Amino acid sequence: MFSERIDRLTSSLVRDILSATQQPGMISFAGGLPAPDELPTPDWSGIPASAAQYGPSEGEPALREAIAEDARNVGIECDASQVLVVSGSQQGIDLVSKLFIDPGTPIITEAPTYLAALQSFELFGAVCHGVPLGTDGIDASRLREVAQDTGARLTYVIPTFQNPSGTCYSAETRAAVAEAADDLGLTLFEDDPYRELVYNNVDRTPICSHIKSAPWIYQSSFSKSFMPGIRVGYLIASPDLMPHLVRLKQATDLHTNRFGQWLAHGHLTSPGLADRLAHLRQAYSAKRDAMDAALTEHFNDLAEWTTPPGGLFFWLRLRTPIDTRELLPAMLERGVAFMPGEVFFPATAPSLGYMRLNFSHASQEQMHSGLAILAEAVRATPAA
Ligand SMILES: Cc1ncc(COP(=O)(O)O)c(C=O)c1O
Repeated sequence: MFSERIDRLTSSLVRDILSATQQPGMISFAGGLPAPDELPTPDWSGIPASAAQYGPSEGEPALREAIAEDARNVGIECDASQVLVVSGSQQGIDLVSKLFIDPGTPIITEAPTYLAALQSFELFGAVCHGVPLGTDGIDASRLREVAQDTGARLTYVIPTFQNPSGTCYSAETRAAVAEAADDLGLTLFEDDPYRELVYNNVDRTPICSHIKSAPWIYQSSFSKSFMPGIRVGYLIASPDLMPHLVRLKQATDLHTNRFGQWLAHGHLTSPGLADRLAHLRQAYSAKRDAMDAALTEHFNDLAEWTTPPGGLFFWLRLRTPIDTRELLPAMLERGVAFMPGEVFFPATAPSLGYMRLNFSHASQEQMHSGLAILAEAVRATPAA
């Protein structure tokens, strides 16, 4: 009755976790949600009446201009004709999957990588080959080897405050990955939703700004720095890819909600933007530091981690490699939600003994009580 791809829809686990986090009293380290206190009040005043009508598939021209200008400021050579507004960057992943993936298509991802991207790629039938993430990103020579061995034509990376690991690629690695993509003609798909959530002074230059000849897609979102509820993100692509992406967007939902696009435009062009972002960084870096201290108290003997220089997550490598998925039901029962790390690895590169912990949502007291419960369960679990 259904399409053959339905059998490839995975992970009821994540839906279970996210629905559990809605329960009152739950301490959630699971999602990647902005802190409720940091969500701005929507300002509807600048929205033209024409927003009530159908609009262009590419997005509101004024928003596309503002996005292109912002991207040029971070080094991406582009104009507004290369910008496609999408209904959250999750839709960008869907459109890119549709453009590049048939059943059996090999592609390259980081290992670990963003779970919902893996799910989308695999839904369309991709075989995802993971390149291990090191402390300053993936090794470009390993990327070259995997591309050559597998024949992959697309690589998906999150170089800045990666989800789930928080890793930020060094300047050298960014340049080396771009050079590998150019040499191999490998399409680079760079996902960059966390770039504004920066707490330490690190290089955040998009890899796409280093590309000379390979096809590329850079995408970002208003979800983490503004509001996820508006479901507005964007992608910027090399001109050869744009006509295909626009047609796919049109076939998917005609265009992104125009009211949300105007709210995003108001945010991006607001004279108060720099102050708002500075406040957000200050608030989240304080939360990051509180979580770091709580982790040191409860997990010092149990795990290793690097303090993330930006983004929303700590990535714990447990000293004893247990399958953290097995801890989850008991933890949800005790009112603590977290993301087991195993689900972020492509099937070709499985790995045990990791946890992703979000620090933007829980209060300081919840961090301590939640981590104490989690640490007790880890300590009581024998190695897999
Ligand atoms: C790496 C990455 N890409 C894409 C998304 C999707 O974001 P949105 O669809 O809200 O723009 C997320 C959300 O957590 C993410 O972490």
